[in-house]
Amino acid sequence: MMVHVPGVLTPEEVGRCRKAFETDGWVDGRVTAGHQAAKAKRNLQLPEDAPVARELSQLVEAALGRSQLFFTAVLPLHFSQFLFNRYEETMNFAAHVDNAVRTQPGTGRRIRTDVSATLFIADPADYEGGELVVEDVYGSHEVKLPAGDLIVYPSTSVHHVTPVTGGARSVCVFWTQSMIRDVTQRSLLFDLDMSIQQLGASHPDHPSLVMFTACYHNLLRQWTET
Ligand code: NI
Repeated sequence: MMVHVPGVLTPEEVGRCRKAFETDGWVDGRVTAGHQAAKAKRNLQLPEDAPVARELSQLVEAALGRSQLFFTAVLPLHFSQFLFNRYEETMNFAAHVDNAVRTQPGTGRRIRTDVSATLFIADPADYEGGELVVEDVYGSHEVKLPAGDLIVYPSTSVHHVTPVTGGARSVCVFWTQSMIRDVTQRSLLFDLDMSIQQLGASHPDHPSLVMFTACYHNLLRQWTET
């Protein structure tokens, strides 16, 4: 289940990120990659302990907190660290699957990665190539979104980033441990919640809304892990 969440960052927030990216403090992105991913990863990253990375992490986390669609799709329990990456010309990230567990810097908490996320800071017009390609049972999906938009997909998916052939691709990537571990259950809850929201908008007094909403919450109660 891939979900496109538009407008997570405001244009002002995108501008704040881009300004912070005008730094020579980028390091090799392999510092946070697992063994297999390190061989595949060719990009730059803001050091996680840099004050600017911490400030931008707070900005992104607050923006996610405002997004109803992100909450509905991911049902977040814990976030990993937020990584800020830059792909310059020729850089890419070959096929890999993300690490199953990540340790949060600071808290030392281990989180299971259920949902992978890429938040686009660069606009598609800023670079050529650099598509995120996610494989699932339905095939291969190429993703390149406007600045401020987010894509989320199951962390079990093999994916890659094609080489950038011009300009620079800047993104924020992070992982979420969901309250709902199983992707099929998460997907069912997403469909149900979206349907309830649509019904509520078109028929706000529909008598079935109460029971549909009760079913949603009672399924969530059955399945949630905290
Ligand atoms: Ni990845």
